[in-house]
Amino acid sequence: MEIQLVEIPKIVNAQGNIGVIEKDVIPFDIKRVYYLYDVPSSAKRGGHAHKNLQQLLVPLSGSFDVILKNGTDEITITLNKPDKGLLINNHIWRELNNFSSGAVCMVLASGIYDEDDYIRNYKDYLKYIKDKK
Ligand code: TYD
Repeated sequence: MEIQLVEIPKIVNAQGNIGVIEKDVIPFDIKRVYYLYDVPSSAKRGGHAHKNLQQLLVPLSGSFDVILKNGTDEITITLNKPDKGLLINNHIWRELNNFSSGAVCMVLASGIYDEDDYIRNYKDYLKYIKDKK
């Protein structure tokens, strides 16, 4: 499975950096921005795939692990650099865990919130991607 890391352009300054995400940085139009924060270190988030939604995850602060599955392969990526985002396409199962204290995960999403776009059961997910082939 391909890991799609996005280098976020930055303006570097000894007084602090600026990360800038403009529309040509990611392959979709942003319809929603949300962020995870105050996540306990024992928390397991995600545990779903999307039918259509595409997302870019950016670790604004701290670190966390993202496990990606496509029904065949599985990879774990640690996100811990605010200038490296992870693109997650639709039809990819994701789980997030191992959040450090103070970690903030910003998510840029291609669509508004829609519960019908979620596949929250892993068996349903495997069937969904098999039927799509
Ligand atoms: P969910 O996407 O399952 O969280 P995560 O993948 O980070 O573990 O969302 C958790 C709950 O929050 C779920 O009941 C749906 C709700 N929610 C919204 O109402 N709007 C949103 O934009 C998001 C992301 C979640």
